Amino acid sequence: MDFKRHIAARIGAEGLSEDELYSKLALPPNTEMGDFALPCFRLAKTLRKPPVRIAEEIRDGYPADDALVKEVTAVNGYVNFKIDRAFWAQETLGEVLKKRERYGASSEGAGKVVCIDYSSVNIAKPFHIGHLSTTVLGSALYKLHKFLGYEPVGINHLGDYGTQFGKLISAYKRWGSREEIEKGGLRALNALYVRFHEEAEKDPALEDEARAFFKKIEDKDAESVALFEWFKELTLKDVGRIYDLLDVHFDSWAGESFYNDKMQPVVDELREKGLLKESDGAQIVDLEAYGMPPCIILRSDGASLYATRDIAAAIYRKDTYDFYKCLYVVAYQQNLHFKQFFKVLELMGKEWAKDLIHVAYGMVSLEEGAMSTRKGRVVYLEDVIARCIEKARAIIAEKNPSLENKDEIAKTVGVGAVIFGALYNSKIKDITFSYDKVLNFEGETSCYVQYTCARANSVLMKGGSARGYAAQEVLPQEFEVIKQLSDFPAVLHEALEKYEPSYIARYAVDLAQKYNKFYFDCKILGAAEGEKNFRLALTEATLITLKNALSLLGIGVPEKM
Ligand code: ARG
Repeated sequence: MDFKRHIAARIGAEGLSEDELYSKLALPPNTEMGDFALPCFRLAKTLRKPPVRIAEEIRDGYPADDALVKEVTAVNGYVNFKIDRAFWAQETLGEVLKKRERYGASSEGAGKVVCIDYSSVNIAKPFHIGHLSTTVLGSALYKLHKFLGYEPVGINHLGDYGTQFGKLISAYKRWGSREEIEKGGLRALNALYVRFHEEAEKDPALEDEARAFFKKIEDKDAESVALFEWFKELTLKDVGRIYDLLDVHFDSWAGESFYNDKMQPVVDELREKGLLKESDGAQIVDLEAYGMPPCIILRSDGASLYATRDIAAAIYRKDTYDFYKCLYVVAYQQNLHFKQFFKVLELMGKEWAKDLIHVAYGMVSLEEGAMSTRKGRVVYLEDVIARCIEKARAIIAEKNPSLENKDEIAKTVGVGAVIFGALYNSKIKDITFSYDKVLNFEGETSCYVQYTCARANSVLMKGGSARGYAAQEVLPQEFEVIKQLSDFPAVLHEALEKYEPSYIARYAVDLAQKYNKFYFDCKILGAAEGEKNFRLALTEATLITLKNALSLLGIGVPEKM
């Protein structure tokens, strides 16, 4: 049962819709004040009345015979609602235990396709720590959309086009060997790339050779294309291993080169609509009126650019999927690029340009310091994951030496730590990844949440899952858990609206903390029969909800830890 909805529907406030009221109803930090609060400050402008008065009027207008809401008060511009706790508890537990792994799911997105462009790796370039956020953020948004009834389309917009492939072929032919590359995969390819840049500094003629090889790929020269395809295959094999570990999936792998034959119509349309201008031989769309540098469509040698491909890709996606929204989960360093090509599409008269959304995120660095692909100073994501698994294994071996399946569990815990570490903070923040922090069992971490799940599991193994239970007098510690449980659907809704999986991560830590407080303060197995059953139900509902939250982030839960 959605209490917020219940209350919102009964508040009489002229000029405000139920949905507006619904979105403003919040859980106050202090339960003593009320169970839900409606802050009236933001309403003051719309209603042209002081907040204190609005609050009083809403209080006076609330139906007195509502069995669910026990008390309505107005305090300092807030309306506070107190709910019958036993009723609330009974309803919430009933809902979670009935819906189980579907608890929190909804059909609010039914019929809406949402394209999500994420991870979008570059062929033959290292898959490094910088790709962590786009990969796990995008994947979490994918799962979340699906859970809320949308039809997500996961797209890996591969970076499989560009002059760097000419460089790579040149380097491979000069210094590479098939065996070495087969064995070393992406790392060996990157070593070649680094070597090319070192040698090209001494011998600039190499750059011409690279350009020539790139031209050969474009002209579909068999040998060059075969080499490129091989590089691509090696890359996808390497990144596939990481996607498997992180439980990340895609529906489409259409990369930049997929649009090779889809750009001419774009150029034609731009020209027809009078949007193309020549500038130093290049074809551009002037964006000065919008305070941006021009968007270059064709270079002076006729080559297309990253933006040209993105424009063609957006049109293709609209035609193919008829998306409701198209999200691009890409670092904020590319803010300008997205603003520019979104604008170009708008100028072309695509009314759906407003549905393109750049989901920007901040940088991840390691405590060890910055990296540089060209110079070969790279922190491979695979190494970061491996190290987390290793550390998790050591911690688990120390905490619980007799545990079975240690390897499996260390993997779940280690991978979870990497994902959670990247998702815990608001996405736009730059973060410094710290192994000790993400694997702190007492911190705000996935292992803390996983450990809480293991604790709940062990309670249920001993006590059995609750059959009949009835909430009578609900203690504050129990009530905190109940409230948190009932807030889950609303948190998911918010997380989707704001494209913030961090809300789910924080929610999980909050719920785990509240459950642990309850666990340490209240007897479960030793309580009287009625109370025991209620507390077992509370425990089971918590476990279900924590699992659901983590699984939306791509994180598993071991039964024991
Ligand atoms: N491959 C690009 C990069 O690594 C990201 C592509 C993002 N997606 C897009 N449609 N532009 O920077």
